[in-house]
Amino acid sequence: MRTGHEGTGPGAITPDGCAVELYSRLPLGPDPDIIAGAVPAGARILELGSGVGRMTHPLLERGFTVTAVDESPEMLERVRGARTICSPIEDIDLGETFDVVLLASFLVHSGDVRVRQGLLRACARHVTADGCVLVQREGEDYHTNVPRERIDPSGATIRIVSSEPLGDGVNSVRAEYEFPDATWIQTFRARPLTKEQFEEALAEAGLEVDKYLTEDRIWVRAVRR
Ligand SMILES: C[S@@+](CC[C@H](N)C(=O)[O-])C[C@H]1O[C@@H](n2cnc3c(N)ncnc32)[C@H](O)[C@@H]1O
Repeated sequence: MRTGHEGTGPGAITPDGCAVELYSRLPLGPDPDIIAGAVPAGARILELGSGVGRMTHPLLERGFTVTAVDESPEMLERVRGARTICSPIEDIDLGETFDVVLLASFLVHSGDVRVRQGLLRACARHVTADGCVLVQREGEDYHTNVPRERIDPSGATIRIVSSEPLGDGVNSVRAEYEFPDATWIQTFRARPLTKEQFEEALAEAGLEVDKYLTEDRIWVRAVRR
């Protein structure tokens, strides 16, 4: 288990505390369309932290080729139609480059600065000179609008119960996912990043913002500097 990460509930739990069964149940919103609108048709995509393929499968349906990376073999077992690579993202060095590298699910907010640097360097290492890196950031009120809850289209109640500062700019977040027949709880560490801090982190990895794709600046297209 990664330090400060924990997960409870039925089925396999990944080192960052995610439940495989939970992610198999949660539907995805408009993200595949945001991605499809921001990259060339038919692009070769390297998806980092793919989980069970919630994003992978809609991207394949839209005509992209996807290589899916995750450190959880149980997650990757559920990915269909894509090449899969089981590894910590920080460690991959595939010796090839992709038109698009995708780092979604707020992974860029890793509480561990070295992990964050490793993730962004993996992005930079695997993108073609004229390709792009798509990053999904937390919304601005992610850590301040707590507790909050919403009913997901799956019928689940999703709660961000708390986000407690641990010092050094890192928060411990507790999320609950309540279905009629099962409940999953995940605790994880996240580091809020202002726009400026995010852009500095990109620069450290040799990347820069090309465009904020959504008004809330959650989705970002970056390129090599
Ligand atoms: C919150 S889940 C989201 C999965 C997928 N992106 C989705 O939206 O359904 C995060 C996934 O990233 C994987 N992950 C997190 N940090 C990772 C790392 N440093 N290296 C490899 N996989 C990682 C976890 O195993 C998990 O499957």
